[in-house]
Amino acid sequence: MIKKMWIFLFLLCICSSCSAVQYRLRAEKLMKETPLIDGHNDLPWQLLKRYNNQLSKVDLNKLNGTHTNIPKLRDGLIGGQFWSAYTPCDTQYRDSVRQTLEQIDVIHRMCQKYPETFQFVGSSTELINAFKRGRVASLIGVEGGHSIDSNMATLRLFYQLGVRYVTLTHSCNTPWADNWLVDTGNDISESNGLSEYGKKIILEMNRLGMIIDLAHVSVKTMKDVLQLSKAPVIFSHSSAYALCNHKRNVPDEILKIVRKKGGIVMVNFYNQYVTCSSAANLSDVADHFDYIKKVAGYQTLGFGGDYDGVTSLPTGLADVSFYPDLVAELLRRKWTDLEVKAALGDNFIRVFKQVEQFKSNSSGDDEPIPYEQVKNQCRTGYGYEKQINNGSPPVLLPAVVTLVYLAHYLLV
Ligand SMILES: *[C@@H]1O[C@H](CO)[C@@H](O)[C@H](O)[C@H]1NC(C)=O
Ligand SMILES: *[C@@H]1O[C@H](CO)[C@@H](O)[C@H](O)[C@H]1NC(C)=O
Ligand SMILES: *[C@@H]1O[C@H](CO)[C@@H](O)[C@H](O)[C@H]1NC(C)=O
Ligand SMILES: [Zn+2]
Repeated sequence: MIKKMWIFLFLLCICSSCSAVQYRLRAEKLMKETPLIDGHNDLPWQLLKRYNNQLSKVDLNKLNGTHTNIPKLRDGLIGGQFWSAYTPCDTQYRDSVRQTLEQIDVIHRMCQKYPETFQFVGSSTELINAFKRGRVASLIGVEGGHSIDSNMATLRLFYQLGVRYVTLTHSCNTPWADNWLVDTGNDISESNGLSEYGKKIILEMNRLGMIIDLAHVSVKTMKDVLQLSKAPVIFSHSSAYALCNHKRNVPDEILKIVRKKGGIVMVNFYNQYVTCSSAANLSDVADHFDYIKKVAGYQTLGFGGDYDGVTSLPTGLADVSFYPDLVAELLRRKWTDLEVKAALGDNFIRVFKQVEQFKSNSSGDDEPIPYEQVKNQCRTGYGYEKQINNGSPPVLLPAVVTLVYLAHYLLV
């Protein structure tokens, strides 16, 4: 009797591990047919922090201590990746534009240095072709509206440099959009969502064919954009608020609007956004996929791991090589091939194509932000009607007054 039970358990064991192998194999097959396109990876930030962007000093085949390197990307069957051109909020009103340019540059140079692995792409068609060639289709996302320094020309030139999404804020307000910290009470609302100038930026992004990313913004900003944008939007790295009440996550009411507008939420793997604690596992991440699928449909999903931008990751998803295990878990949860492929990349490609369709060659918005709305000591006023600040630092004025006084006293 006991012996029989052992044999039964043994067979059960073999069977379940053999079905685990089957799910994994099916995941790999699907990932070879449809590119896994991830919405957010901070490897460029690691390159800045560790090497000051000196690619000559690093071999991405051997890079160690990061979540991302070339062998891990290959093992993870990554088909397309948005590399983040991120610069922290403390560069706002200082050198955010230059810092962002450096990150855009290092992404381009990374693609040039490893042409066998990366192919830079700027359109949905190029993305699909790069995947067919066996390359990681590489795209650029700028994380944080502070990177454009309240300036449409900078936004347009970013597009020309290959940037295909801009996250409207990082974790700070810009002069034209509120960030998620407004919803925690840690920041004060300055624009009640989007300001009038913020609305112009949305329309200009539509005109350019630039994807709007709502990760990191306040709920009111999400609502304003979802109402205004002609093209669908993405959340490049955010999870479901109902499962973890972190304000970086997306509440149900927004999930439903995103679905209606044809956008997607690319699920973030950061433990704090997955379980609202320091511990999480692969199954907890799969719960977010299940949940968003339940509330907003499989058409509203994508992957946005946030690798190399976060300090803790779920057990079973330690680096980018583990994506196929997550895909296998979705299959184990009875996701159909169609649903899995949608989440892998078909949904994102649909969004990208729609954004491209709204592209227009009209000449664009050329109204500058009202000067007084940019609280930037360093900003000169050239071009503005009243020639505010006129390029000469205000500190000169007291100096001149003092000199005049001195001269007066000396002469008297
Ligand atoms: C990674 O770093 C560790 C310790 O620094 C080292 O022992 C190991 O050999 C490195 N691995 C590779 C692949 O370079
Ligand atoms: C994952 O963690 C959850 C708790 O968040 C736990 O209930 C579950 O058993 C874990 N699953 C695995 C496969 O470890
Ligand atoms: C925009 O493109 C259309 C068709 O591609 C063309 O007919 C039109 O002249 C263009 N307009 C401008 C301002 O370039
Ligand atoms: Zn982020």
